[in-house]
Amino acid sequence: MRDSFYKRAVFVIFLIAFVFAYPIEKGVSDEKHHTPPSQQRFDNIDLWTKIFEDPARDKWQMPDEVIKNLNLKPGDVVADLGAGTGYFTRRLAVAVGPQGKAIGIEVEPNMVKYMEEDAKKLNLKNYTARLVKYDDAGLEPNSVDVIFICDTYHHLEDRTNYFRKAARSLKPKGRVVVVDFYKKQLPVGPQDLEHKLSEVMVIKEMWEAGYRLKRFLDFLPYQYFIEFEL
Ligand SMILES: C[S@@+](CC[C@H](N)C(=O)[O-])C[C@H]1O[C@@H](n2cnc3c(N)ncnc32)[C@H](O)[C@@H]1O
Repeated sequence: MRDSFYKRAVFVIFLIAFVFAYPIEKGVSDEKHHTPPSQQRFDNIDLWTKIFEDPARDKWQMPDEVIKNLNLKPGDVVADLGAGTGYFTRRLAVAVGPQGKAIGIEVEPNMVKYMEEDAKKLNLKNYTARLVKYDDAGLEPNSVDVIFICDTYHHLEDRTNYFRKAARSLKPKGRVVVVDFYKKQLPVGPQDLEHKLSEVMVIKEMWEAGYRLKRFLDFLPYQYFIEFEL
């Protein structure tokens, strides 16, 4: 009860902030120095598999809760942007069922290969992987119901233009869901504060890219879950 009151309160505060731009500007001014770990390579597959697929991650990443909160329907097409080893992609493929599709979008050929083998091993025909360029999600126009992006938003450069372009790939009522680390010292995730983005900054940038805040959820201990629509 208290929890849901809190979530509603956070949501309303964000809405008010958007109407009266001042608090957003103020929040953002503290964050002018965000440096994306630009084009950081994730080519060491052994190292990153250990990190992304660490069974201990499940405890704080709560993948089942994340998937549940995406409210996917059978047949939906989901793009997992910056999918890594497919930690979420394989779960998304199960969630949307055989008529749906989960596409792991990656800039690292090693990760794409890893996901392709993963899909084969799991015999999930609706789980595919796609190699893309850093500045383009490479999705066809009007082809995707949900763009899901976990721990990757802060890696992108020129995010406003990136998501402006990505908007074309969304079907009517399409959504973008960003899960990323709170900008504070945490026991997991990137340790460099400079590389993280506050939830206020994400909302501001997405607003500039033409998206509206739909939901802000705080059920994860270290990450925000923010849903946007056009
Ligand atoms: C921190 S990992 C997150 C992996 C995965 N989402 C997860 O939660 O396990 C970030 C991933 O994003 C990929 N990446 C970075 N920039 C990207 C871009 N511009 N487009 C697509 N993928 C990107 C990296 O190669 C890396 O695998």
